[in-house]
Parts: sequence; structure tokens; C-alpha cells
Amino acid sequence: MVVITGAGGALGTAIATRFAAHPGIALVLSDVSPSGLDATVAAVGGGGSVDSVLADVSDAAAVQSVVDHAVGRFGRLDAYIGNAGVLAPNGRIHNQTEADWHRSFAVNVMGAANGIAAAVGPMRRQGFGSIVLTASVAGMTAWSHSAPYCATKAAVIQLVKVAAVEYARDGIRVNCVCPGTFRSAIHDDLPDGALDPIASRHPLGLGQAVDVAGAYEYLAGEAAGWTTGTALVVDGGYAAP
Ligand SMILES: NC(=O)c1ccc[n+]([C@@H]2O[C@H](COP(=O)([O-])OP(=O)(O)OC[C@H]3O[C@@H](n4cnc5c(N)ncnc54)[C@H](O)[C@@H]3O)[C@@H](O)[C@H]2O)c1
Repeated sequence: MVVITGAGGALGTAIATRFAAHPGIALVLSDVSPSGLDATVAAVGGGGSVDSVLADVSDAAAVQSVVDHAVGRFGRLDAYIGNAGVLAPNGRIHNQTEADWHRSFAVNVMGAANGIAAAVGPMRRQGFGSIVLTASVAGMTAWSHSAPYCATKAAVIQLVKVAAVEYARDGIRVNCVCPGTFRSAIHDDLPDGALDPIASRHPLGLGQAVDVAGAYEYLAGEAAGWTTGTALVVDGGYAAP
């Protein structure tokens, strides 16, 4: 069974849809947005079981309750997909407020850490599991006017490496996906045209959420059985130059 956070957004929907195509799979979808979560549950087809749990990933107890629900209902946790994330307001460092920084760290970094801490409980008991977090190419390259986002996504990549080392002997793999830019609600507050120069830096053009979702299926599954601590870049060539 698979838990997916940020499931109410574009990438979360694409990941959930991809996993739901596996016959008999059980999914627990989680998001802070009731309407987003409802839309994803409605969109996800397949013949498996789909539960939804509202939770703010910056709240450790809430994330624990998501995992507890999943294990209580389905008896195991094969994969935890920590995908929830936020973009700070567009601006140079001196224009980012303390609240902008705190929100980015609370959701992007503590959300990731809370997910690992909760997921390793049942995974250590069962002796296996795969954790896949959503980082970004913004955690590897400089995105002007996005310092809180870049710094927090870089932290996610480092968190994954440490967790991979700490939990390898428990049979738990920990990896992250670093998407390039695909259109989603996360860009809604950007000024008009802000994505145009970013699009031109992607040799294959801007992606769509569905272009990224397969990476989660791969990292969660047996084909990636010897892969841990890695940051898998799926970016239409953005980071290649
Ligand atoms: N869109 C891109 O270009 C892009 C590129 C690289 C990485 N990402 C990452 O992909 C992930 C998904 O983003 P998306 O592009 O689908 O955006 P999105 O806004 O469509 O989805 C993000 C989801 O996260 C949820 N969320 C926000 N804060 C939360 C919290 N505190 N607790 C629980 N859920 C919360 C939102 O309600 C939303 O449903 C994010 O981690 C984002 O940083 C996106």
C-alpha cells in the first residue's frame, strides 16, 4: 500500500493515477486542501482501495495520523510518497519575509522530515519500504527570485541522503525526484510571463505532471531495489547544460 502527500495537486494527482493503475493496490491520499483531495479521489480510477486523510505535513502529529490510518486499515506500508510542497513569493532574498522562509522550511523541509519519521516506524517493523520525496532541480541549480524554495529543496536532497544511510539496514530505501518545471497551481502567484524564460531553459520545453509521475513508480518499486540516497532528475534536459 502507498501513501501520497500533496495528493490534491497536479503532481500528486498524476502520481496517484499512476499507482492506481496497479490492480488491487491500496492508496491513502493526503493533502491539506479538502477540495484538492476530493478532486484527486474522484479522478483516480483503478480497481484498488483509495482512502483520503486531510493533514498538514508541517504538523508531525498529523503526518503520523496519516501513516497510522494507512497501517491500521491496510496492515502495511510499502511506499511513502512525500510530495507536498510550496513555492515562496517571487522575490530577491532581501524581499523575502521571515514568514516566507518559515513557511518554506515548515512545509518543504519539516514536511519531508515528518514523513520520513512517521514512515520508518511501520517500515522498520516489517523490514522493508520505500520512501520517495519530491525535491526539485531548484535544489540543484540557482533559481533567481526563489531562494527559500531553492534552499529548502536542496535540504530535501540532503535529507534523503542521510535517511538512506540511516535506514538501509532496516531494508528501507529513501530517494527523491527532482522535477524540472511543469505547469501546476504552485505557479499561480507568479507574475504573468514568469515561466517564459524558465521554459526556454528546458530543451524539451515545460513538462506536465504526468511526465514526472513514472519516476515515483520506478523508485517505489522492485526495479529500483538497489537504488537509495539518489536524486532522480526528470527535467526535460533543464539541468544538462
Ligand atoms: N510544478 C513544478 O514546476 C514543480 C517543479 C519541481 C518540483 N515541484 C514540486 O512538486 C510537488 C507538487 O507540486 P505541484 O507542482 O503539483 O503543485 P500543486 O500546488 O498543484 O500541488 C501541491 C499540493 O501540496 C499541497 N500542500 C501544500 N502545503 C501543504 C501542507 N502543508 N500539507 C499538506 N499538503 C500541502 C497543496 O494543497 C497542493 O495540493 C511540490 O513539492 C513542488 O515543490 C513542482
